[in-house]
Amino acid sequence: MKPQPQTQSASASAPQPQPQPDVRPARLPALDIRGARFAYGRRTVLADLDLTVDRGTVVGLLGPNGSGKSTLIRGICRIHRPKAGTFRLGDIDLHRLAPRELARTAAYVPQGSPGPFSLTVTEAVMLGRTPHVRLRPSRADERHVREAMELLDLTALGDRHVDELSGGQAQRVVIARALAQQPEVLLLDEPTSALDLRHQVETLHLVHTLAVERDLYVLMAIHDLNLAARFCHRVALLHGGRIVTAGTPAGVYRADLLEQVYGLPVEVDVRDGVPEVRPRLPTRRAAP
Ligand SMILES: Nc1ncnc2c1ncn2[C@@H]1O[C@H](COP(=O)(O)OP(=O)(O)OP(=O)(O)O)[C@@H](O)[C@H]1O
Ligand SMILES: [Mg+2]
Repeated sequence: MKPQPQTQSASASAPQPQPQPDVRPARLPALDIRGARFAYGRRTVLADLDLTVDRGTVVGLLGPNGSGKSTLIRGICRIHRPKAGTFRLGDIDLHRLAPRELARTAAYVPQGSPGPFSLTVTEAVMLGRTPHVRLRPSRADERHVREAMELLDLTALGDRHVDELSGGQAQRVVIARALAQQPEVLLLDEPTSALDLRHQVETLHLVHTLAVERDLYVLMAIHDLNLAARFCHRVALLHGGRIVTAGTPAGVYRADLLEQVYGLPVEVDVRDGVPEVRPRLPTRRAAP
Protein backbone atom coordinates (compact mmCIF):
# COMPACT_ATOMS: atom_id res chain seq x y z
CA MET A 1 0.00 0.00 0.00
CA LYS A 2 1.36 3.42 -0.98
CA PRO A 3 1.67 5.99 1.82
CA GLN A 4 -1.18 8.50 1.69
CA PRO A 5 -0.15 12.08 0.71
CA GLN A 6 0.02 14.15 3.85
CA THR A 7 -2.21 17.20 4.19
CA GLN A 8 -0.36 20.51 3.73
CA SER A 9 0.26 22.56 6.82
CA ALA A 10 -1.64 25.91 6.97
CA SER A 11 1.55 27.68 8.07
CA ALA A 12 4.07 28.49 5.32
CA SER A 13 6.93 28.36 7.83
CA ALA A 14 6.06 24.92 9.09
CA PRO A 15 8.46 22.23 7.92
CA GLN A 16 7.25 20.69 4.71
CA PRO A 17 6.50 17.01 4.88
CA GLN A 18 9.23 14.95 3.27
CA PRO A 19 8.07 12.46 0.66
CA GLN A 20 7.99 9.09 2.37
CA PRO A 21 9.85 6.33 0.58
CA ASP A 22 7.65 3.37 -0.22
CA VAL A 23 9.11 1.23 2.56
CA ARG A 24 7.27 -1.92 3.48
CA PRO A 25 8.42 -4.21 6.22
CA ALA A 26 10.44 -6.96 4.56
CA ARG A 27 8.18 -9.98 4.52
CA LEU A 28 9.83 -12.65 6.59
CA PRO A 29 10.31 -15.75 4.51
CA ALA A 30 8.01 -18.61 5.40
CA LEU A 31 8.05 -22.32 4.73
CA ASP A 32 5.32 -22.38 2.18
CA ILE A 33 3.69 -25.51 0.81
CA ARG A 34 1.20 -25.07 -2.03
CA GLY A 35 -0.95 -27.63 -3.79
CA ALA A 36 0.91 -30.65 -2.42
CA ARG A 37 -0.24 -34.08 -3.51
CA PHE A 38 1.27 -37.40 -2.47
CA ALA A 39 0.43 -40.93 -3.49
CA TYR A 40 1.61 -44.45 -2.82
CA GLY A 41 1.29 -46.20 -6.15
CA ARG A 42 -2.07 -45.12 -7.49
CA ARG A 43 -3.55 -44.29 -4.11
CA THR A 44 -3.53 -40.56 -3.38
CA VAL A 45 -3.13 -40.04 0.37
CA LEU A 46 -2.72 -36.25 0.49
CA ALA A 47 -4.27 -33.80 -1.94
CA ASP A 48 -4.52 -30.03 -2.56
CA LEU A 49 -2.60 -29.33 0.59
CA ASP A 50 -1.53 -25.77 1.45
CA LEU A 51 0.38 -25.05 4.64
CA THR A 52 2.53 -22.19 5.88
CA VAL A 53 5.03 -22.34 8.73
CA ASP A 54 6.21 -18.89 9.78
CA ARG A 55 9.76 -18.27 10.90
CA GLY A 56 10.31 -18.73 14.62
CA THR A 57 7.20 -20.84 15.11
CA VAL A 58 6.22 -24.41 15.86
CA VAL A 59 3.32 -25.80 13.84
CA GLY A 60 1.74 -29.00 15.15
CA LEU A 61 0.44 -31.47 12.61
CA LEU A 62 -2.51 -33.24 14.18
CA GLY A 63 -4.83 -35.94 12.95
CA PRO A 64 -5.79 -39.57 13.42
CA ASN A 65 -3.64 -42.53 12.40
CA GLY A 66 -3.26 -42.72 8.65
CA SER A 67 -4.33 -39.12 8.03
CA GLY A 68 -1.07 -38.32 6.21
CA LYS A 69 1.17 -36.55 8.78
CA SER A 70 4.29 -38.66 8.21
CA THR A 71 3.78 -38.61 4.45
CA LEU A 72 3.76 -34.82 4.46
CA ILE A 73 6.78 -34.54 6.75
CA ARG A 74 8.79 -37.02 4.68
CA GLY A 75 7.60 -35.26 1.54
CA ILE A 76 8.91 -31.86 2.61
CA CYS A 77 12.43 -33.23 2.99
CA ARG A 78 12.02 -35.18 -0.28
CA ILE A 79 12.26 -38.65 1.24
CA HIS A 80 8.90 -39.24 -0.41
CA ARG A 81 8.49 -37.50 -3.77
CA PRO A 82 5.35 -35.44 -4.28
CA LYS A 83 3.09 -35.89 -7.30
CA ALA A 84 2.42 -32.17 -7.32
CA GLY A 85 3.03 -29.00 -5.35
CA THR A 86 5.67 -26.47 -4.44
CA PHE A 87 7.80 -26.50 -1.30
CA ARG A 88 9.49 -23.16 -0.78
CA LEU A 89 11.47 -21.50 1.96
CA GLY A 90 11.22 -17.85 1.02
CA ASP A 91 12.84 -17.67 -2.42
CA ILE A 92 14.35 -21.14 -2.15
CA ASP A 93 12.66 -24.08 -3.83
CA LEU A 94 13.52 -26.82 -1.33
CA HIS A 95 13.01 -29.54 -3.89
CA ARG A 96 15.60 -28.05 -6.24
CA LEU A 97 18.37 -28.01 -3.65
CA ALA A 98 21.23 -30.48 -3.95
CA PRO A 99 20.96 -33.23 -1.29
CA ARG A 100 23.78 -31.79 0.84
CA GLU A 101 22.27 -28.31 0.73
CA LEU A 102 18.83 -29.66 1.57
CA ALA A 103 20.36 -31.52 4.53
CA ARG A 104 21.91 -28.26 5.78
CA THR A 105 18.54 -26.57 5.51
CA ALA A 106 16.11 -29.18 6.82
CA ALA A 107 16.53 -31.92 9.43
CA TYR A 108 14.12 -34.79 9.79
CA VAL A 109 13.40 -36.71 12.98
CA PRO A 110 11.68 -39.94 11.95
CA GLN A 111 8.90 -41.68 13.79
CA GLY A 112 10.52 -44.40 15.92
CA SER A 113 14.09 -45.17 16.88
CA PRO A 114 17.32 -44.72 14.89
CA GLY A 115 17.52 -48.44 14.09
CA PRO A 116 20.10 -51.01 15.07
CA PHE A 117 23.33 -49.06 14.74
CA SER A 118 26.52 -50.21 16.36
CA LEU A 119 27.54 -46.56 16.87
CA THR A 120 28.01 -44.86 20.18
CA VAL A 121 25.59 -42.08 21.11
CA THR A 122 28.27 -39.44 20.39
CA GLU A 123 29.01 -40.96 16.98
CA ALA A 124 25.32 -41.17 16.15
CA VAL A 125 24.80 -37.49 17.01
CA MET A 126 27.92 -36.61 14.98
CA LEU A 127 26.11 -38.04 11.93
CA GLY A 128 24.02 -34.87 12.08
CA ARG A 129 27.16 -32.92 11.14
CA THR A 130 27.61 -34.89 7.89
CA PRO A 131 26.28 -32.09 5.65
CA HIS A 132 28.75 -29.64 7.27
CA VAL A 133 31.90 -31.73 7.86
CA ARG A 134 34.66 -31.33 5.27
CA LEU A 135 37.34 -33.99 5.75
CA ARG A 136 37.10 -34.71 9.42
CA PRO A 137 35.03 -33.17 12.22
CA SER A 138 36.33 -29.79 13.34
CA ARG A 139 36.29 -28.34 16.86
CA ALA A 140 33.09 -26.53 15.88
CA ASP A 141 31.48 -29.82 14.79
CA GLU A 142 32.42 -31.38 18.11
CA ARG A 143 31.02 -28.36 19.95
CA HIS A 144 27.68 -28.62 18.13
CA VAL A 145 27.49 -32.33 18.99
CA ARG A 146 28.30 -31.68 22.65
CA GLU A 147 25.71 -28.92 22.82
CA ALA A 148 23.00 -31.05 21.20
CA MET A 149 23.76 -33.91 23.59
CA GLU A 150 23.54 -31.59 26.59
CA LEU A 151 20.23 -30.19 25.38
CA LEU A 152 18.77 -33.69 25.10
CA ASP A 153 20.19 -34.89 28.43
CA LEU A 154 22.49 -37.41 26.70
CA THR A 155 25.93 -36.38 27.94
CA ALA A 156 26.18 -39.25 30.42
CA LEU A 157 25.26 -41.73 27.69
CA GLY A 158 27.91 -40.60 25.16
CA ASP A 159 29.88 -43.89 25.08
CA ARG A 160 26.89 -46.22 25.11
CA HIS A 161 25.98 -48.00 21.89
CA VAL A 162 22.75 -46.86 20.30
CA ASP A 163 21.37 -50.39 20.16
CA GLU A 164 21.78 -50.66 23.94
CA LEU A 165 19.49 -47.73 24.70
CA SER A 166 15.89 -47.66 25.85
CA GLY A 167 13.28 -46.50 23.32
CA GLY A 168 13.08 -43.02 24.82
CA GLN A 169 16.86 -42.60 25.06
CA ALA A 170 17.15 -43.64 21.41
CA GLN A 171 14.46 -41.13 20.45
CA ARG A 172 16.42 -38.38 22.18
CA VAL A 173 19.51 -39.38 20.16
CA VAL A 174 17.59 -38.88 16.90
CA ILE A 175 16.44 -35.43 18.05
CA ALA A 176 19.98 -34.50 19.13
CA ARG A 177 21.28 -35.63 15.73
CA ALA A 178 18.78 -33.32 14.04
CA LEU A 179 19.77 -30.36 16.25
CA ALA A 180 23.47 -31.01 15.61
CA GLN A 181 22.62 -30.64 11.92
CA GLN A 182 21.82 -26.96 12.68
CA PRO A 183 18.90 -26.79 10.27
CA GLU A 184 16.62 -23.87 9.62
CA VAL A 185 13.70 -26.24 9.16
CA LEU A 186 13.06 -28.93 11.74
CA LEU A 187 10.66 -31.69 10.73
CA LEU A 188 9.68 -33.85 13.67
CA ASP A 189 7.53 -36.95 13.39
CA GLU A 190 6.06 -37.71 16.82
CA PRO A 191 9.32 -36.81 18.58
CA THR A 192 7.97 -37.50 22.05
CA SER A 193 6.00 -40.72 21.51
CA ALA A 194 8.51 -42.85 23.45
CA LEU A 195 9.48 -40.27 26.09
CA ASP A 196 8.56 -40.27 29.75
CA LEU A 197 6.51 -37.36 31.06
CA ARG A 198 9.49 -35.23 32.11
CA HIS A 199 11.35 -35.74 28.85
CA GLN A 200 8.17 -35.07 26.82
CA VAL A 201 7.74 -31.70 28.47
CA GLU A 202 11.45 -30.85 28.43
CA THR A 203 11.83 -31.81 24.77
CA LEU A 204 8.78 -29.87 23.62
CA HIS A 205 9.84 -26.89 25.69
CA LEU A 206 13.28 -27.11 24.08
CA VAL A 207 11.81 -27.31 20.57
CA HIS A 208 9.56 -24.31 21.26
CA THR A 209 12.43 -22.27 22.73
CA LEU A 210 14.82 -23.12 19.90
CA ALA A 211 12.19 -22.19 17.32
CA VAL A 212 11.72 -18.77 18.89
CA GLU A 213 15.34 -18.02 19.81
CA ARG A 214 16.99 -19.39 16.66
CA ASP A 215 14.23 -18.40 14.25
CA LEU A 216 13.60 -21.98 13.15
CA TYR A 217 10.67 -23.29 11.16
CA VAL A 218 9.33 -26.30 13.03
CA LEU A 219 6.69 -28.69 11.74
CA MET A 220 5.89 -31.47 14.19
CA ALA A 221 3.46 -34.38 13.94
CA ILE A 222 2.08 -35.02 17.40
CA HIS A 223 -0.83 -37.02 18.80
CA ASP A 224 -1.06 -35.43 22.23
CA LEU A 225 -3.50 -32.57 21.68
CA ASN A 226 -2.88 -31.08 25.10
CA LEU A 227 0.89 -30.96 24.76
CA ALA A 228 0.43 -29.57 21.25
CA ALA A 229 -1.79 -26.81 22.66
CA ARG A 230 0.95 -25.86 25.15
CA PHE A 231 3.95 -25.93 22.83
CA CYS A 232 2.74 -25.20 19.28
CA HIS A 233 2.08 -21.67 18.06
CA ARG A 234 -0.31 -23.04 15.46
CA VAL A 235 -1.78 -26.39 14.60
CA ALA A 236 -3.13 -27.96 11.43
CA LEU A 237 -5.69 -30.74 11.70
CA LEU A 238 -5.43 -33.42 9.01
CA HIS A 239 -8.21 -35.84 8.19
CA GLY A 240 -8.32 -38.24 5.27
CA GLY A 241 -5.39 -36.55 3.56
CA ARG A 242 -6.71 -32.99 3.76
CA ILE A 243 -6.26 -30.13 6.19
CA VAL A 244 -9.64 -29.68 7.83
CA THR A 245 -8.65 -26.52 9.65
CA ALA A 246 -5.54 -24.67 10.83
CA GLY A 247 -4.90 -21.88 13.29
CA THR A 248 -4.15 -21.36 16.95
CA PRO A 249 -4.93 -24.33 19.20
CA ALA A 250 -7.69 -22.27 20.85
CA GLY A 251 -9.27 -21.67 17.44
CA VAL A 252 -8.91 -25.22 16.15
CA TYR A 253 -9.92 -27.21 19.24
CA ARG A 254 -13.68 -27.22 18.90
CA ALA A 255 -15.36 -30.22 20.48
CA ASP A 256 -17.68 -30.85 17.50
CA LEU A 257 -14.80 -30.76 15.03
CA LEU A 258 -12.52 -33.00 17.11
CA GLU A 259 -15.38 -35.45 17.64
CA GLN A 260 -15.96 -35.63 13.91
CA VAL A 261 -12.27 -36.09 13.07
CA TYR A 262 -11.35 -38.53 15.86
CA GLY A 263 -14.74 -40.28 16.08
CA LEU A 264 -14.99 -39.94 19.83
CA PRO A 265 -16.92 -37.60 22.12
CA VAL A 266 -14.66 -35.01 23.76
CA GLU A 267 -14.89 -32.00 26.02
CA VAL A 268 -12.74 -28.94 25.54
CA ASP A 269 -11.96 -26.69 28.52
CA VAL A 270 -9.79 -23.63 28.45
CA ARG A 271 -7.28 -23.20 31.28
CA ASP A 272 -5.01 -20.14 31.41
CA GLY A 273 -6.02 -19.44 27.81
CA VAL A 274 -4.83 -22.88 26.65
CA PRO A 275 -7.41 -25.44 25.49
CA GLU A 276 -7.48 -28.85 27.12
CA VAL A 277 -9.16 -31.82 25.49
CA ARG A 278 -10.65 -34.67 27.47
CA PRO A 279 -12.29 -37.71 25.93
CA ARG A 280 -15.75 -38.30 27.37
CA LEU A 281 -15.48 -41.81 28.73
CA PRO A 282 -18.38 -43.96 29.87
CA THR A 283 -18.76 -43.57 33.64
CA ARG A 284 -17.39 -46.55 35.53
CA ARG A 285 -19.74 -48.41 37.77
CA ALA A 286 -18.69 -48.37 41.40
CA ALA A 287 -17.42 -51.74 42.59
CA PRO A 288 -20.05 -53.63 44.61
N1 LIG B 1 4.98 -46.96 2.36
C1 LIG B 1 3.67 -46.90 2.17
N2 LIG B 1 3.07 -47.59 1.16
C2 LIG B 1 1.74 -47.52 0.95
N3 LIG B 1 0.89 -46.79 1.70
C3 LIG B 1 1.42 -46.11 2.72
C4 LIG B 1 2.83 -46.12 3.02
N4 LIG B 1 3.07 -45.33 4.08
C5 LIG B 1 1.87 -44.85 4.46
N5 LIG B 1 0.88 -45.31 3.65
C6 LIG B 1 -0.54 -44.97 3.73
O1 LIG B 1 -0.67 -43.56 3.56
C7 LIG B 1 -1.67 -43.03 4.43
C8 LIG B 1 -1.04 -41.94 5.29
O2 LIG B 1 -0.07 -42.55 6.12
P1 LIG B 1 0.86 -41.73 7.10
O3 LIG B 1 1.92 -42.65 7.60
O4 LIG B 1 1.30 -40.50 6.41
O5 LIG B 1 -0.17 -41.36 8.25
P2 LIG B 1 0.08 -40.68 9.67
O6 LIG B 1 -0.89 -39.56 9.79
O7 LIG B 1 1.51 -40.38 9.85
O8 LIG B 1 -0.38 -41.84 10.66
P3 LIG B 1 0.16 -42.22 12.15
O9 LIG B 1 -0.52 -41.29 13.09
O10 LIG B 1 -0.33 -43.62 12.31
O11 LIG B 1 1.64 -42.12 12.16
C9 LIG B 1 -2.22 -44.22 5.23
O12 LIG B 1 -3.41 -44.66 4.62
C10 LIG B 1 -1.13 -45.27 5.10
O13 LIG B 1 -1.69 -46.58 5.15
MG1 LIG C 1 2.96 -41.10 11.16
